[in-house]
Amino acid sequence: MKDVILKALRIASGEQTPNLEFPENEDFGDFTSNVAMVSGKPAKDIVEKLKKDKDLAEIVAKIEIAGPGFINFYLSEEALGAELEKVLKAGKNHGSSSLGEGKTVVIDYSSPNIAKRFGIGHLRSTVIGQALYNLYQTLGFKVIGDNHLGDWGTQFGVLLAQIEDSGLKTQDLTLDKLEELYVDFHKKAEADPKLWDGARAWFKKLEEGDSAAKEIWKNLVEISVTEFNRIYKLLGVKIDYAYGESFYEDYMPKVINLLREKGLVKKSQGAEIVEFKDLPPAMLVKSDGATTYFTRDLATILFRVGSWDPEIIIYEVGMEQTLHFRQVFAAAKLLGWAKDRELVHIGHGLIRFEHGKMSTRRGDTVKLEDVLSEATSRAGKIIEASETGRGLSDKEKEEVAEAVGIGAIKYFDLSHHPATDIIFDWEKLFLLEGNSAPYLQYTAVRADSVLKKAKNADLDFNSKELKLNKEEARVISGLIRFPEVIIAAAKNYSPNLLTNYLFGLAQKFNNFYNQHRIIDGENENFRLALTKATGEVLKSGLGILGIETPERM
Ligand code: ARG
Repeated sequence: MKDVILKALRIASGEQTPNLEFPENEDFGDFTSNVAMVSGKPAKDIVEKLKKDKDLAEIVAKIEIAGPGFINFYLSEEALGAELEKVLKAGKNHGSSSLGEGKTVVIDYSSPNIAKRFGIGHLRSTVIGQALYNLYQTLGFKVIGDNHLGDWGTQFGVLLAQIEDSGLKTQDLTLDKLEELYVDFHKKAEADPKLWDGARAWFKKLEEGDSAAKEIWKNLVEISVTEFNRIYKLLGVKIDYAYGESFYEDYMPKVINLLREKGLVKKSQGAEIVEFKDLPPAMLVKSDGATTYFTRDLATILFRVGSWDPEIIIYEVGMEQTLHFRQVFAAAKLLGWAKDRELVHIGHGLIRFEHGKMSTRRGDTVKLEDVLSEATSRAGKIIEASETGRGLSDKEKEEVAEAVGIGAIKYFDLSHHPATDIIFDWEKLFLLEGNSAPYLQYTAVRADSVLKKAKNADLDFNSKELKLNKEEARVISGLIRFPEVIIAAAKNYSPNLLTNYLFGLAQKFNNFYNQHRIIDGENENFRLALTKATGEVLKSGLGILGIETPERM
Protein backbone atom coordinates (compact mmCIF):
# COMPACT_ATOMS: atom_id res chain seq x y z
CA MET A 1 0.00 0.00 0.00
CA LYS A 2 2.64 2.42 1.12
CA ASP A 3 4.91 1.37 -1.72
CA VAL A 4 2.29 2.25 -4.29
CA ILE A 5 1.79 5.71 -2.82
CA LEU A 6 5.52 6.31 -2.49
CA LYS A 7 6.15 5.33 -6.08
CA ALA A 8 3.40 7.63 -7.32
CA LEU A 9 4.79 10.44 -5.17
CA ARG A 10 8.25 9.98 -6.57
CA ILE A 11 7.02 10.24 -10.12
CA ALA A 12 4.68 13.15 -9.44
CA SER A 13 7.13 15.23 -7.41
CA GLY A 14 10.47 14.30 -8.89
CA GLU A 15 11.79 13.83 -5.33
CA GLN A 16 13.72 10.62 -4.81
CA THR A 17 12.77 10.10 -1.18
CA PRO A 18 9.42 11.73 -0.52
CA ASN A 19 8.25 11.38 3.03
CA LEU A 20 5.03 9.54 3.81
CA GLU A 21 3.62 9.28 7.28
CA PHE A 22 0.56 8.37 9.22
CA PRO A 23 -1.19 11.59 10.15
CA GLU A 24 -1.57 12.07 13.86
CA ASN A 25 -5.29 12.55 13.42
CA GLU A 26 -7.16 10.15 11.14
CA ASP A 27 -9.39 12.96 9.98
CA PHE A 28 -6.44 13.85 7.79
CA GLY A 29 -6.44 10.57 5.95
CA ASP A 30 -4.55 7.31 6.17
CA PHE A 31 -1.26 8.75 4.93
CA THR A 32 0.19 12.20 4.58
CA SER A 33 3.21 13.65 2.78
CA ASN A 34 5.00 16.98 3.04
CA VAL A 35 6.65 16.50 -0.34
CA ALA A 36 5.16 19.67 -1.79
CA MET A 37 6.76 21.71 0.95
CA VAL A 38 10.11 19.98 0.60
CA SER A 39 10.28 20.09 -3.18
CA GLY A 40 8.97 23.62 -3.43
CA LYS A 41 6.56 22.54 -6.15
CA PRO A 42 2.91 23.59 -5.87
CA ALA A 43 0.86 20.89 -4.16
CA LYS A 44 -1.84 21.42 -6.75
CA ASP A 45 0.48 20.34 -9.58
CA ILE A 46 1.68 17.27 -7.72
CA VAL A 47 -1.87 16.20 -6.90
CA GLU A 48 -2.91 16.60 -10.52
CA LYS A 49 -0.17 14.20 -11.56
CA LEU A 50 -1.00 11.82 -8.72
CA LYS A 51 -4.57 11.63 -9.89
CA LYS A 52 -3.39 10.27 -13.23
CA ASP A 53 -1.49 7.39 -11.62
CA LYS A 54 -3.40 4.18 -12.37
CA ASP A 55 -1.96 2.06 -9.56
CA LEU A 56 -2.69 4.78 -7.07
CA ALA A 57 -6.24 5.18 -8.35
CA GLU A 58 -6.86 1.56 -7.46
CA ILE A 59 -6.20 2.06 -3.78
CA VAL A 60 -7.10 5.60 -2.85
CA ALA A 61 -10.55 7.08 -2.66
CA LYS A 62 -9.48 10.67 -2.15
CA ILE A 63 -6.36 12.83 -2.36
CA GLU A 64 -6.51 16.19 -0.63
CA ILE A 65 -4.30 19.21 -0.11
CA ALA A 66 -4.13 20.41 3.46
CA GLY A 67 -2.39 23.29 5.15
CA PRO A 68 0.87 24.63 3.74
CA GLY A 69 1.74 21.88 1.31
CA PHE A 70 0.58 18.63 2.89
CA ILE A 71 -0.99 16.01 0.66
CA ASN A 72 -3.35 13.60 2.39
CA PHE A 73 -4.36 10.20 1.06
CA TYR A 74 -7.55 8.37 1.97
CA LEU A 75 -7.55 4.68 1.17
CA SER A 76 -10.54 3.23 -0.64
CA GLU A 77 -12.86 0.83 1.13
CA GLU A 78 -11.58 -1.96 -1.01
CA ALA A 79 -7.97 -1.15 -0.12
CA LEU A 80 -8.82 -0.98 3.56
CA GLY A 81 -10.59 -4.33 3.30
CA ALA A 82 -7.55 -5.83 1.60
CA GLU A 83 -5.35 -4.44 4.36
CA LEU A 84 -7.52 -6.06 6.99
CA GLU A 85 -7.19 -9.37 5.18
CA LYS A 86 -3.42 -8.97 5.24
CA VAL A 87 -3.41 -8.22 8.95
CA LEU A 88 -5.49 -11.32 9.65
CA LYS A 89 -3.34 -13.48 7.46
CA ALA A 90 -0.19 -12.32 9.22
CA GLY A 91 -1.86 -13.13 12.55
CA LYS A 92 0.61 -13.00 15.39
CA ASN A 93 3.32 -11.95 12.95
CA HIS A 94 1.63 -8.68 12.11
CA GLY A 95 4.11 -6.12 13.34
CA SER A 96 7.22 -8.28 13.19
CA SER A 97 9.79 -7.71 10.51
CA SER A 98 13.27 -8.65 9.43
CA LEU A 99 14.56 -5.11 9.70
CA GLY A 100 17.20 -6.13 12.22
CA GLU A 101 18.29 -9.32 10.56
CA GLY A 102 21.96 -10.03 11.10
CA LYS A 103 22.24 -7.28 13.71
CA THR A 104 22.80 -7.72 17.41
CA VAL A 105 21.64 -5.52 20.26
CA VAL A 106 22.82 -5.94 23.83
CA ILE A 107 20.50 -4.56 26.48
CA ASP A 108 21.93 -3.95 29.91
CA TYR A 109 18.96 -3.73 32.25
CA SER A 110 17.55 -4.38 35.69
CA SER A 111 21.02 -4.65 37.27
CA PRO A 112 20.20 -4.49 40.98
CA ASN A 113 22.90 -4.42 43.63
CA ILE A 114 23.82 -7.42 45.73
CA ALA A 115 23.11 -7.07 49.44
CA LYS A 116 20.60 -4.31 48.80
CA ARG A 117 16.90 -4.38 48.29
CA PHE A 118 15.52 -4.43 44.79
CA GLY A 119 14.25 -0.87 44.60
CA ILE A 120 11.69 0.96 42.51
CA GLY A 121 14.47 2.31 40.31
CA HIS A 122 15.46 -1.22 39.40
CA LEU A 123 11.82 -2.01 38.73
CA ARG A 124 11.77 0.78 36.14
CA SER A 125 14.96 -0.48 34.55
CA THR A 126 13.57 -4.02 34.44
CA VAL A 127 10.25 -3.04 32.92
CA ILE A 128 11.59 -0.58 30.34
CA GLY A 129 14.58 -2.79 29.51
CA GLN A 130 12.36 -5.79 28.92
CA ALA A 131 10.04 -3.77 26.66
CA LEU A 132 13.02 -2.59 24.60
CA TYR A 133 14.25 -6.17 24.45
CA ASN A 134 10.91 -7.36 23.08
CA LEU A 135 10.63 -4.46 20.64
CA TYR A 136 14.01 -5.20 19.08
CA GLN A 137 13.29 -8.88 18.98
CA THR A 138 10.04 -8.22 17.12
CA LEU A 139 12.10 -6.38 14.53
CA GLY A 140 14.29 -9.40 13.91
CA PHE A 141 17.37 -8.26 15.81
CA LYS A 142 19.34 -10.77 17.77
CA VAL A 143 18.85 -9.42 21.27
CA ILE A 144 20.96 -10.24 24.29
CA GLY A 145 19.80 -9.19 27.71
CA ASP A 146 22.44 -8.82 30.39
CA ASN A 147 21.67 -8.15 34.02
CA HIS A 148 24.75 -6.24 35.15
CA LEU A 149 24.48 -7.16 38.82
CA GLY A 150 26.24 -4.84 41.22
CA ASP A 151 28.26 -7.54 42.94
CA TRP A 152 31.68 -5.93 43.23
CA GLY A 153 33.18 -2.78 44.68
CA THR A 154 34.16 -1.10 47.92
CA GLN A 155 30.67 -1.58 49.37
CA PHE A 156 31.53 -5.26 49.72
CA GLY A 157 34.53 -4.29 51.77
CA VAL A 158 32.10 -2.42 53.99
CA LEU A 159 29.89 -5.46 54.39
CA LEU A 160 32.75 -7.88 54.98
CA ALA A 161 34.17 -5.60 57.64
CA GLN A 162 30.78 -5.29 59.31
CA ILE A 163 30.04 -9.01 59.19
CA GLU A 164 33.44 -9.81 60.66
CA ASP A 165 32.97 -7.14 63.27
CA SER A 166 29.51 -8.22 64.37
CA GLY A 167 30.33 -11.91 64.44
CA LEU A 168 27.19 -12.66 62.43
CA LYS A 169 26.90 -16.13 60.94
CA THR A 170 25.84 -16.87 57.38
CA GLN A 171 22.47 -18.15 58.47
CA ASP A 172 21.75 -14.85 60.27
CA LEU A 173 22.17 -12.83 57.12
CA THR A 174 19.10 -11.55 55.33
CA LEU A 175 18.77 -8.68 52.87
CA ASP A 176 17.24 -6.51 55.56
CA LYS A 177 20.07 -7.32 57.94
CA LEU A 178 22.65 -6.51 55.27
CA GLU A 179 21.07 -3.18 54.53
CA GLU A 180 21.08 -2.44 58.21
CA LEU A 181 24.79 -3.25 58.45
CA TYR A 182 25.48 -0.99 55.51
CA VAL A 183 23.58 1.96 56.92
CA ASP A 184 25.10 1.38 60.35
CA PHE A 185 28.61 1.49 58.87
CA HIS A 186 28.02 4.84 57.24
CA LYS A 187 26.78 6.27 60.53
CA LYS A 188 29.82 5.00 62.39
CA ALA A 189 32.22 6.07 59.68
CA GLU A 190 30.97 9.60 59.83
CA ALA A 191 32.30 9.86 63.35
CA ASP A 192 35.33 7.70 62.66
CA PRO A 193 36.52 7.95 59.02
CA LYS A 194 39.36 5.52 59.80
CA LEU A 195 36.81 2.72 59.52
CA TRP A 196 37.02 3.18 55.76
CA ASP A 197 40.56 1.86 55.81
CA GLY A 198 39.29 -1.42 57.20
CA ALA A 199 36.57 -1.63 54.57
CA ARG A 200 39.00 -0.90 51.78
CA ALA A 201 41.39 -3.50 53.09
CA TRP A 202 38.61 -6.07 52.97
CA PHE A 203 37.71 -5.25 49.40
CA LYS A 204 41.37 -5.44 48.49
CA LYS A 205 41.49 -8.92 49.99
CA LEU A 206 38.46 -9.84 47.94
CA GLU A 207 40.05 -8.51 44.76
CA GLU A 208 43.20 -10.45 45.56
CA GLY A 209 41.19 -13.65 45.81
CA ASP A 210 41.35 -14.22 49.57
CA SER A 211 39.36 -17.39 50.16
CA ALA A 212 37.66 -16.38 53.44
CA ALA A 213 36.53 -13.10 51.91
CA LYS A 214 35.34 -14.86 48.78
CA GLU A 215 33.34 -17.33 50.86
CA ILE A 216 31.35 -14.64 52.65
CA TRP A 217 30.92 -12.69 49.44
CA LYS A 218 29.53 -15.76 47.66
CA ASN A 219 26.95 -16.06 50.37
CA LEU A 220 25.86 -12.49 49.96
CA VAL A 221 25.42 -13.04 46.26
CA GLU A 222 23.38 -16.14 46.83
CA ILE A 223 21.02 -14.54 49.34
CA SER A 224 20.42 -11.63 47.01
CA VAL A 225 20.05 -13.57 43.79
CA THR A 226 17.47 -15.85 45.40
CA GLU A 227 15.45 -12.79 46.33
CA PHE A 228 15.90 -11.18 42.89
CA ASN A 229 14.75 -14.34 41.16
CA ARG A 230 11.61 -14.37 43.26
CA ILE A 231 10.87 -10.83 42.05
CA TYR A 232 11.63 -11.66 38.42
CA LYS A 233 9.24 -14.56 38.62
CA LEU A 234 6.55 -12.29 39.99
CA LEU A 235 7.19 -9.83 37.19
CA GLY A 236 7.33 -12.53 34.56
CA VAL A 237 10.81 -11.47 33.49
CA LYS A 238 13.73 -13.66 32.43
CA ILE A 239 17.05 -12.08 31.56
CA ASP A 240 19.45 -14.03 29.33
CA TYR A 241 22.63 -13.43 31.31
CA ALA A 242 23.64 -12.05 34.67
CA TYR A 243 27.40 -11.79 34.45
CA GLY A 244 27.61 -9.07 37.04
CA GLU A 245 30.50 -6.75 37.76
CA SER A 246 32.63 -9.38 39.49
CA PHE A 247 32.84 -11.39 36.28
CA TYR A 248 35.06 -8.71 34.77
CA GLU A 249 37.85 -9.00 37.36
CA ASP A 250 39.98 -10.86 34.83
CA TYR A 251 39.36 -8.37 32.06
CA MET A 252 40.39 -5.36 34.06
CA PRO A 253 44.17 -5.57 33.79
CA LYS A 254 43.79 -5.71 30.03
CA VAL A 255 41.63 -2.59 29.93
CA ILE A 256 43.96 -0.71 32.23
CA ASN A 257 46.96 -1.67 30.12
CA LEU A 258 45.29 -0.71 26.87
CA LEU A 259 44.53 2.71 28.29
CA ARG A 260 48.06 3.09 29.62
CA GLU A 261 49.58 2.05 26.28
CA LYS A 262 47.53 4.66 24.49
CA GLY A 263 48.80 7.26 26.92
CA LEU A 264 45.32 7.94 28.18
CA VAL A 265 46.06 7.40 31.87
CA LYS A 266 47.30 10.07 34.24
CA LYS A 267 48.60 9.66 37.79
CA SER A 268 46.80 11.77 40.30
CA GLN A 269 47.51 11.61 44.05
CA GLY A 270 48.42 7.95 43.84
CA ALA A 271 45.39 7.08 41.77
CA GLU A 272 45.09 6.66 38.02
CA ILE A 273 42.57 8.68 36.09
CA VAL A 274 41.39 9.11 32.52
CA GLU A 275 40.91 12.66 31.31
CA PHE A 276 38.50 13.87 28.66
CA LYS A 277 38.21 16.99 26.57
CA ASP A 278 34.81 18.10 27.77
CA LEU A 279 34.03 15.93 30.78
CA PRO A 280 35.43 15.68 34.28
CA PRO A 281 38.09 12.95 34.67
CA ALA A 282 37.09 9.42 35.64
CA MET A 283 38.85 7.27 38.22
CA LEU A 284 40.36 4.12 36.74
CA VAL A 285 42.37 2.75 39.65
CA LYS A 286 42.09 4.06 43.21
CA SER A 287 45.16 4.97 45.23
CA ASP A 288 44.93 1.64 47.06
CA GLY A 289 44.93 -0.22 43.76
CA ALA A 290 41.23 -1.09 43.78
CA THR A 291 39.27 -0.89 40.54
CA THR A 292 36.15 1.19 40.07
CA TYR A 293 32.66 1.00 38.60
CA PHE A 294 34.06 2.91 35.61
CA THR A 295 36.86 0.38 35.02
CA ARG A 296 34.41 -2.48 35.24
CA ASP A 297 32.04 -0.89 32.74
CA LEU A 298 34.93 -0.56 30.28
CA ALA A 299 35.88 -4.18 30.83
CA THR A 300 32.24 -5.08 30.22
CA ILE A 301 32.30 -3.37 26.84
CA LEU A 302 35.51 -5.19 25.93
CA PHE A 303 33.83 -8.49 26.77
CA ARG A 304 30.57 -7.72 24.98
CA VAL A 305 32.31 -6.53 21.85
CA GLY A 306 34.47 -9.63 21.81
CA SER A 307 31.60 -12.02 22.48
CA TRP A 308 28.76 -10.58 20.42
CA ASP A 309 30.05 -7.70 18.30
CA PRO A 310 26.78 -5.81 18.79
CA GLU A 311 25.59 -2.90 16.62
CA ILE A 312 23.98 -1.30 19.65
CA ILE A 313 24.52 -1.56 23.38
CA ILE A 314 21.64 -0.07 25.33
CA TYR A 315 22.04 0.75 29.02
CA GLU A 316 18.72 1.18 30.79
CA VAL A 317 19.95 2.82 33.98
CA GLY A 318 18.72 5.73 36.15
CA MET A 319 19.28 9.24 34.91
CA GLU A 320 21.57 10.00 37.84
CA GLN A 321 24.27 7.95 36.13
CA THR A 322 24.34 10.15 33.03
CA LEU A 323 27.82 11.50 33.69
CA HIS A 324 29.18 8.03 34.37
CA PHE A 325 27.96 6.75 31.02
CA ARG A 326 29.23 9.79 29.18
CA GLN A 327 32.66 9.05 30.59
CA VAL A 328 32.45 5.34 29.82
CA PHE A 329 31.33 6.00 26.24
CA ALA A 330 34.00 8.66 25.75
CA ALA A 331 36.71 6.25 26.95
CA ALA A 332 35.32 3.49 24.73
CA LYS A 333 35.59 5.86 21.80
CA LEU A 334 39.20 6.68 22.65
CA LEU A 335 39.89 2.95 22.69
CA GLY A 336 38.27 2.54 19.26
CA TRP A 337 35.47 0.32 20.55
CA ALA A 338 32.62 2.53 19.43
CA LYS A 339 33.34 2.46 15.71
CA ASP A 340 30.19 1.42 13.82
CA ARG A 341 28.64 0.81 17.18
CA GLU A 342 26.09 2.78 19.08
CA LEU A 343 26.39 3.07 22.84
CA VAL A 344 23.23 4.50 24.34
CA HIS A 345 22.22 5.32 27.85
CA ILE A 346 18.45 5.37 28.31
CA GLY A 347 18.18 7.13 31.61
CA HIS A 348 14.95 6.80 33.50
CA GLY A 349 13.51 9.38 35.86
CA LEU A 350 12.25 8.88 39.38
CA ILE A 351 8.95 7.52 40.58
CA ARG A 352 7.29 9.58 43.25
CA PHE A 353 4.57 8.41 45.53
CA GLU A 354 2.10 10.95 46.70
CA HIS A 355 -0.63 8.94 48.32
CA GLY A 356 -0.90 7.68 51.83
CA LYS A 357 1.89 5.78 53.43
CA MET A 358 3.93 5.57 50.25
CA SER A 359 4.71 9.24 50.21
CA THR A 360 8.43 9.62 50.00
CA ARG A 361 10.33 11.75 47.60
CA ARG A 362 12.81 9.21 46.38
CA GLY A 363 11.01 6.21 45.03
CA ASP A 364 13.81 3.88 45.98
CA THR A 365 12.93 3.96 49.64
CA VAL A 366 9.45 2.62 48.96
CA LYS A 367 9.33 -1.13 49.26
CA LEU A 368 8.77 -2.79 45.94
CA GLU A 369 7.02 -5.62 47.69
CA ASP A 370 4.37 -3.26 49.05
CA VAL A 371 3.75 -1.73 45.67
CA LEU A 372 3.33 -5.08 43.95
CA SER A 373 1.01 -6.48 46.55
CA GLU A 374 -1.07 -3.30 46.66
CA ALA A 375 -1.46 -3.54 42.88
CA THR A 376 -2.55 -7.16 42.99
CA SER A 377 -5.02 -6.49 45.76
CA ARG A 378 -6.55 -3.53 43.91
CA ALA A 379 -6.85 -5.65 40.78
CA GLY A 380 -8.45 -8.36 42.89
CA LYS A 381 -11.15 -5.95 44.02
CA ILE A 382 -11.96 -4.99 40.45
CA ILE A 383 -12.31 -8.62 39.48
CA GLU A 384 -14.38 -9.40 42.54
CA ALA A 385 -16.79 -6.66 41.51
CA SER A 386 -17.04 -7.71 37.87
CA GLU A 387 -19.60 -10.06 36.43
CA THR A 388 -16.95 -12.37 35.05
CA GLY A 389 -15.27 -12.43 38.42
CA ARG A 390 -18.24 -14.08 40.01
CA GLY A 391 -17.85 -17.03 37.68
CA LEU A 392 -14.18 -17.62 38.50
CA SER A 393 -12.65 -19.95 41.05
CA ASP A 394 -10.46 -18.44 43.74
CA LYS A 395 -7.36 -19.67 42.01
CA GLU A 396 -8.45 -18.18 38.69
CA LYS A 397 -9.27 -14.92 40.38
CA GLU A 398 -5.82 -14.83 41.87
CA GLU A 399 -4.17 -15.41 38.51
CA VAL A 400 -6.21 -12.72 36.83
CA ALA A 401 -5.51 -10.31 39.69
CA GLU A 402 -1.80 -10.87 39.24
CA ALA A 403 -1.89 -10.35 35.48
CA VAL A 404 -3.97 -7.21 35.88
CA GLY A 405 -2.13 -5.82 38.91
CA ILE A 406 1.40 -6.38 37.60
CA GLY A 407 0.27 -5.35 34.12
CA ALA A 408 -1.10 -2.08 35.49
CA ILE A 409 2.22 -1.23 37.12
CA LYS A 410 4.28 -2.05 34.06
CA TYR A 411 1.95 -0.19 31.74
CA PHE A 412 1.83 2.91 33.91
CA ASP A 413 5.60 3.07 33.82
CA LEU A 414 5.84 2.37 30.09
CA SER A 415 3.15 4.89 29.18
CA HIS A 416 5.53 7.65 30.26
CA HIS A 417 8.65 8.49 28.31
CA PRO A 418 11.53 6.82 30.20
CA ALA A 419 13.25 10.12 30.91
CA THR A 420 10.28 11.62 32.76
CA ASP A 421 9.70 11.54 36.47
CA ILE A 422 6.51 9.71 37.27
CA ILE A 423 4.04 10.50 39.97
CA PHE A 424 2.56 7.20 40.96
CA ASP A 425 -1.19 7.45 40.91
CA TRP A 426 -3.16 4.38 41.89
CA GLU A 427 -6.36 5.75 40.36
CA LYS A 428 -4.77 6.21 36.96
CA LEU A 429 -3.11 2.82 37.05
CA PHE A 430 -6.46 1.09 37.12
CA LEU A 431 -8.63 3.48 35.09
CA LEU A 432 -11.01 1.18 33.29
CA GLU A 433 -11.81 3.86 30.72
CA GLY A 434 -8.36 5.34 30.36
CA ASN A 435 -4.82 4.83 29.18
CA SER A 436 -4.18 1.84 31.43
CA ALA A 437 -3.35 -1.85 31.09
CA PRO A 438 -6.70 -2.96 32.53
CA TYR A 439 -8.55 -0.98 29.85
CA LEU A 440 -6.53 -2.62 27.08
CA GLN A 441 -6.73 -6.08 28.62
CA TYR A 442 -10.44 -5.61 29.04
CA THR A 443 -10.86 -4.58 25.40
CA ALA A 444 -8.84 -7.58 24.19
CA VAL A 445 -10.87 -9.92 26.36
CA ARG A 446 -14.07 -8.32 25.05
CA ALA A 447 -12.94 -8.95 21.46
CA ASP A 448 -12.29 -12.58 22.30
CA SER A 449 -15.61 -13.06 23.97
CA VAL A 450 -17.47 -11.64 20.97
CA LEU A 451 -15.70 -14.21 18.80
CA LYS A 452 -16.55 -16.97 21.21
CA LYS A 453 -20.19 -15.94 21.31
CA ALA A 454 -20.54 -15.80 17.55
CA LYS A 455 -21.99 -19.02 16.23
CA ASN A 456 -20.42 -18.14 12.95
CA ALA A 457 -16.71 -18.76 12.72
CA ASP A 458 -16.47 -17.56 9.14
CA LEU A 459 -14.31 -14.48 8.79
CA ASP A 460 -14.33 -14.31 5.01
CA PHE A 461 -15.65 -11.18 3.43
CA ASN A 462 -15.46 -9.69 -0.01
CA SER A 463 -13.34 -6.57 0.12
CA LYS A 464 -14.48 -5.56 -3.37
CA GLU A 465 -18.02 -4.96 -2.15
CA LEU A 466 -17.13 -3.61 1.21
CA LYS A 467 -19.11 -0.67 2.52
CA LEU A 468 -17.49 0.78 5.60
CA ASN A 469 -18.87 3.12 8.19
CA LYS A 470 -16.55 5.69 9.73
CA GLU A 471 -15.92 3.67 12.88
CA GLU A 472 -14.93 0.55 10.97
CA ALA A 473 -12.64 2.48 8.66
CA ARG A 474 -10.96 4.02 11.69
CA VAL A 475 -10.21 0.66 13.24
CA ILE A 476 -8.57 -0.58 10.06
CA SER A 477 -6.54 2.62 9.72
CA GLY A 478 -5.39 1.94 13.25
CA LEU A 479 -4.51 -1.70 12.64
CA ILE A 480 -2.26 -0.97 9.68
CA ARG A 481 -0.11 1.41 11.70
CA PHE A 482 1.08 -1.23 14.13
CA PRO A 483 4.31 -2.25 12.32
CA GLU A 484 5.51 1.33 12.00
CA VAL A 485 4.73 2.08 15.61
CA ILE A 486 6.94 -0.81 16.69
CA ILE A 487 9.78 0.52 14.58
CA ALA A 488 9.37 4.03 15.95
CA ALA A 489 9.17 2.82 19.55
CA ALA A 490 12.35 0.76 19.14
CA LYS A 491 14.33 3.39 17.25
CA ASN A 492 13.44 6.12 19.70
CA TYR A 493 13.79 3.83 22.72
CA SER A 494 10.27 4.92 23.65
CA PRO A 495 7.83 2.16 24.59
CA ASN A 496 5.37 4.96 25.33
CA LEU A 497 4.80 5.30 21.58
CA LEU A 498 3.43 1.78 21.66
CA THR A 499 1.24 2.35 24.71
CA ASN A 500 -0.24 5.48 23.09
CA TYR A 501 -0.95 3.57 19.95
CA LEU A 502 -2.62 0.66 21.74
CA PHE A 503 -4.75 3.03 23.75
CA GLY A 504 -5.88 4.76 20.56
CA LEU A 505 -6.65 1.47 18.88
CA ALA A 506 -8.69 0.25 21.85
CA GLN A 507 -10.67 3.49 21.81
CA LYS A 508 -11.37 3.15 18.11
CA PHE A 509 -12.50 -0.40 18.57
CA ASN A 510 -14.76 0.43 21.48
CA ASN A 511 -16.25 3.27 19.50
CA PHE A 512 -17.13 0.80 16.80
CA TYR A 513 -18.32 -1.79 19.29
CA ASN A 514 -20.59 0.64 21.09
CA GLN A 515 -22.27 1.88 17.93
CA HIS A 516 -22.61 -1.20 15.79
CA ARG A 517 -23.87 -4.68 16.19
CA ILE A 518 -21.30 -7.34 15.46
CA ILE A 519 -23.12 -10.62 15.91
CA ASP A 520 -26.14 -10.90 13.62
CA GLY A 521 -25.45 -7.40 12.34
CA GLU A 522 -24.86 -6.45 8.74
CA ASN A 523 -21.50 -7.51 7.46
CA GLU A 524 -21.15 -10.01 10.25
CA ASN A 525 -18.16 -11.78 8.74
CA PHE A 526 -16.31 -8.57 8.18
CA ARG A 527 -17.05 -7.30 11.66
CA LEU A 528 -15.90 -10.52 13.23
CA ALA A 529 -12.71 -10.27 11.19
CA LEU A 530 -12.20 -6.73 12.40
CA THR A 531 -12.77 -7.84 15.97
CA LYS A 532 -10.34 -10.70 15.67
CA ALA A 533 -7.59 -8.56 14.18
CA THR A 534 -8.01 -5.92 16.86
CA GLY A 535 -7.85 -8.48 19.66
CA GLU A 536 -4.69 -9.94 18.19
CA VAL A 537 -2.94 -6.63 17.81
CA LEU A 538 -3.88 -5.58 21.33
CA LYS A 539 -2.56 -8.83 22.71
CA SER A 540 0.68 -8.79 20.78
CA GLY A 541 1.21 -5.15 21.64
CA LEU A 542 0.70 -5.85 25.32
CA GLY A 543 2.93 -8.90 24.98
CA ILE A 544 5.74 -6.72 23.62
CA LEU A 545 5.31 -4.51 26.66
CA GLY A 546 5.69 -7.62 28.80
CA ILE A 547 2.03 -7.60 29.82
CA GLU A 548 -0.15 -10.66 29.81
CA THR A 549 -3.77 -10.64 28.72
CA PRO A 550 -5.93 -12.88 30.91
CA GLU A 551 -8.44 -15.12 29.18
CA ARG A 552 -11.30 -13.64 31.11
CA MET A 553 -11.70 -10.65 33.35
N1 ARG B 1 24.03 -1.74 39.67
C1 ARG B 1 23.92 -0.40 39.18
C2 ARG B 1 23.01 0.40 40.09
O1 ARG B 1 22.09 -0.14 40.64
C3 ARG B 1 23.39 -0.33 37.78
C4 ARG B 1 24.25 -0.98 36.74
C5 ARG B 1 23.90 -0.54 35.37
N2 ARG B 1 24.69 -1.11 34.33
C6 ARG B 1 25.95 -0.79 34.05
N3 ARG B 1 26.56 -1.41 33.06
N4 ARG B 1 26.62 0.11 34.75
O2 ARG B 1 23.17 1.59 40.22
